[in-house]
Amino acid sequence: MVNLDDIRQRARAELAAADAPEALEAWRLAYLGRRGAVTQILRGLGELALEERRRLGATANDLRAELEGALAGRQTELERVAVAALEAGAIDVTLPGRPSLVGRLHPITQTLQDVLTAFGAMGFQIAEGPEVEWEYYNFDALRIPKHHPARDTMDTFWLDYRRDGERAMLLRTHTSPNQIRFMEKHEPPIRVVVPGRTYRYEATDATHEWMITQVEVLAVDEGITMRHLKWTMAEFVRAIFGEDRPIRFRCDHFPFVEPGAEVAVQCGLCRGEGCRSCGNEGYLEICGAGMVHREILENVGYDADRYTGFAAGFGVERIAMLRHGIEDIRLFYGNDLRFLRQF
Ligand code: PHE
Repeated sequence: MVNLDDIRQRARAELAAADAPEALEAWRLAYLGRRGAVTQILRGLGELALEERRRLGATANDLRAELEGALAGRQTELERVAVAALEAGAIDVTLPGRPSLVGRLHPITQTLQDVLTAFGAMGFQIAEGPEVEWEYYNFDALRIPKHHPARDTMDTFWLDYRRDGERAMLLRTHTSPNQIRFMEKHEPPIRVVVPGRTYRYEATDATHEWMITQVEVLAVDEGITMRHLKWTMAEFVRAIFGEDRPIRFRCDHFPFVEPGAEVAVQCGLCRGEGCRSCGNEGYLEICGAGMVHREILENVGYDADRYTGFAAGFGVERIAMLRHGIEDIRLFYGNDLRFLRQF
């Protein structure tokens, strides 16, 4: 009996001191394992007299149950302590998570990428030019001299700075100066698209902004004709608007092309019948285009008897508006997330 009490006291004391899973396991082996103290006593019962065996057996069994219970209790206690330590030192895992803001591409960037992909598939390379441009490239080199009425339709922001007291600079009004810039640096064959921001001194309204994104298209080679221009524009419209949107060519005038054309795409709402959205036209103008003027080819040093070319230019905002049914161009740069998140 004395023996059992000793065992109980020792076991209790050691259990209270065990504060790690390994210590608990060592304790279990020492008392309740196959060679444990309590197990040994229960095993040795067979050698005792009946009376003694009953008494000791019952007490030893009780002790085993008691120690098993104590072990389970200590285990739970240690787990609680561990969890409490975690909770105290770390985050509250029951708080709702903070959603991370996922960015996205601006609708104009998306449409521009699709436009460039379409032209890339047709073999056009991409080039860029400066947004702050010389008056020369923006106007004079494109056959728009100072007195020309086209200057009035393209009034813009001029810079005070003048190099050599002479050469004026402005925010480019279109991407067409890059026709000249690219031809000055490259020989035909040329297939190039030039995307970029352009600026005009505009009163803004639903269809006008003082900054828009344009894409210039230029192809120069032997034997380039208007047919190539038409096919290229039809293919471009097909890539952006789908299979079933016919295009329309009409005469137009731009000083740097001859002949010049305006390209329109059939209205997606009325399919050419005429409705409010297309001003009863049935078609929506998207692009200026034409054959590169002979004088321009000569001015960049090309043999204009050998080479011909076509050029086209359009606004990406307008393409995106037609594509998505957006009715006010000012939405693009209004920084309203309710609008931007739709794309
Ligand atoms: N640059 C002209 C504009 O902004 C468009 C154009 C480009 C026309 C190329 C013909 C050829 O209005």
